Amino acid sequence: MSATLFYEDAVDLLDADHKLVQKLFLDYQGLCDDGAPSEDRRQLALKICQDLSVHAQIEEEIFYPAVRAAIDDDPLMEEALREHAEAKKAIARIQGMAPTDASYDDTVKQLFTTIMDHVMEEREQIFLKARYSTADLRGMVPELYARKKALQKSAPARKPAGKKKVTS
Ligand SMILES: [Fe+2]
Ligand SMILES: [Fe+2]
Repeated sequence: MSATLFYEDAVDLLDADHKLVQKLFLDYQGLCDDGAPSEDRRQLALKICQDLSVHAQIEEEIFYPAVRAAIDDDPLMEEALREHAEAKKAIARIQGMAPTDASYDDTVKQLFTTIMDHVMEEREQIFLKARYSTADLRGMVPELYARKKALQKSAPARKPAGKKKVTS
C-alpha cells in the first residue's frame, strides 16, 4: 500500500512518530518501575534514540525547509532547530553511557521531557501554521516515508550486550 494512503499528510506522518516514541518512553518508565535488567533498559533506550534521530533528520531535511519557506516565521524554525540540537546532545550522552550508570534512567527521563516540550511546540505552532500555509503537506508524504525507511535501514546494528570486541 502506498505511504500516501497510510497518512493524511506530512503532519499526520510526523505526529504518528511522536505518538510511537511517547509510547516507547512510557514503556521505558514501566521497565524502571519493574526493576528490569539494565540490558533491557539499554536496548529500549537505544531504540528510542535511534527513532528520534531518524525523525529529527527527516524533519530537518524535508519538512522544516518546506515549512520555513511557506510560513515566514524564521524565529520559530530556529527555535525548533535549537531544540533538536539539545535533544541530539542528550541522545549522544545516552548512547555513550553504560546502563548501569546511576544517572542513566534520569538521563532518559530528561530526554523524554525535552522531547515532549518540543513535540508540544511542533503541534501547537509549527504543524498548525504548516496546515494553514501553502506547503504541500500531502505531496511530502512519499519523500518523508522513503527517507525514513532508508535511514532506518542504514542504522548501525546494535551490538549484543556484554560482547566486547576481542583484540589479540
Ligand atoms: Fe522536531
Ligand atoms: Fe517532530
